[in-house]
Amino acid sequence: MKLCMIGTGYVGLVSGVCFSDLGNTVYCVDKDINKINSLNKGVVPIYEPGLEEILKKNYKQKRLFFTSNLKKAVQNSDIIFICVGTPTKKNSNSADLKYVFNVVNELKKLISSYKIIVTKSTVPVTTGDKIEKILNNLRKKKLIDVVSNPEFLREGEAIRDFTYPDRVIIGTESRKANKILKSLYMPIIKKSSRYFNTSRRGAELIKYASNSFLATKISFINELANLCEKSGVDVKDVSLGMGSDQRIGDRFLRAGPAYGGSCFPKDTRALIDIGNKFKTDLSIVKSVVASNNARKTLLLERVKSILNNKLKNKKITFLGVTFKPNTDDMREASSIPMINYLNKKNCKINYYDPSGEKIEFKNLKNVKFSTSITSACLNADLIILHTEWNDFKLLNFKKLINKSNFKIFDMRNLYDPLKMKKLNIKYFGIGR
Ligand code: UDX
Repeated sequence: MKLCMIGTGYVGLVSGVCFSDLGNTVYCVDKDINKINSLNKGVVPIYEPGLEEILKKNYKQKRLFFTSNLKKAVQNSDIIFICVGTPTKKNSNSADLKYVFNVVNELKKLISSYKIIVTKSTVPVTTGDKIEKILNNLRKKKLIDVVSNPEFLREGEAIRDFTYPDRVIIGTESRKANKILKSLYMPIIKKSSRYFNTSRRGAELIKYASNSFLATKISFINELANLCEKSGVDVKDVSLGMGSDQRIGDRFLRAGPAYGGSCFPKDTRALIDIGNKFKTDLSIVKSVVASNNARKTLLLERVKSILNNKLKNKKITFLGVTFKPNTDDMREASSIPMINYLNKKNCKINYYDPSGEKIEFKNLKNVKFSTSITSACLNADLIILHTEWNDFKLLNFKKLINKSNFKIFDMRNLYDPLKMKKLNIKYFGIGR
């Protein structure tokens, strides 16, 4: 099939590349000409393991194209995926849909034969209705169907998540559109993913419900971790015991710092806003957002207490600053408020992250990027294991830090507290 992906962010680029790998012809469109030029040279603008190889392979085979020419891409395609960002609006919780509607208004002028318009961007329930209204003339002429097909891929695992999703959701009341999309997804569905044809509004809501529920699971275990710390229980035991109940499931029960990234924070906020618009109080989601925000301060309080409330001139090393491993993404990473605070308190901060230096910390006077784990850790008073990159899982801290009396705050529970005790290392974890 011939596809057009509008927007080459995480969702658009990964889906476009993977769809081309399934044998489709894919036009990836972006207004950012520099990005398109780079992509045409094989340079991938995001850090995503495996993406570059698949991109280059399909580009060479002339199944994958990068262009800023929306008109040509739309006219050559059967299915148009809208994959632009839906960030949180300034000073509000609601999703900003201006990029989505800008695209729709452009499409209005370009369509003259039947196309399926699919929102892959995460959009509030009834957005599809609004898109249809804008394109009402085309709809009346039966030239379009508007479908919601939410994407559930995670950063760092994007290719596997796209290729082997737990489910494919096609939200449409149109039989024709459903049939075409089902055959597009058939190679994926065949590999045992479940396929659901739901209402369009249902599909829109499923995405927010899923992300908010996962965020709820994380906040739940994070709050239990607080209780574990006070009651002498290891939260890992609780996650294991709870998670073995198949009704609960063991994934997304790892306690840690506040969750971050480009989706959970934005989508939980947006769901609250959607609830408000429909006069429905989503009190659980509200609590999750509040709990996650409070966690940033709570962990800083723990840092202070680990350092006996003496922060000034303390050498603190952050290992990992991204919101999760295998990505260079810093959006809503909990390291940002933490490092900003410790910088203000005149701590001397070194950080190392396998994905490189971060613009977020460039102008902070007490914060330096180290190019290796070794240089970051040397002479530290406190090591904060912030992100669970594999590189940090088997470290010899005594050798690295090269002084006695250092402390470790393992925010991802990567190490065994008993082993640390045996090594005489002052070790602090989360919920243990
Ligand atoms: C998420 C959803 O998982 C994905 O389905 C959706 O399409 C986009 O949003 P992503 O933001 O890439 O994906 O990352 P994810 O792996 O879900 O992690 C999000 C945050 O939760 C990270 O900060 C991570 O550290 C945290 N997390 C995750 C935990 O703290 N504990 C866990 O057990 C799992």
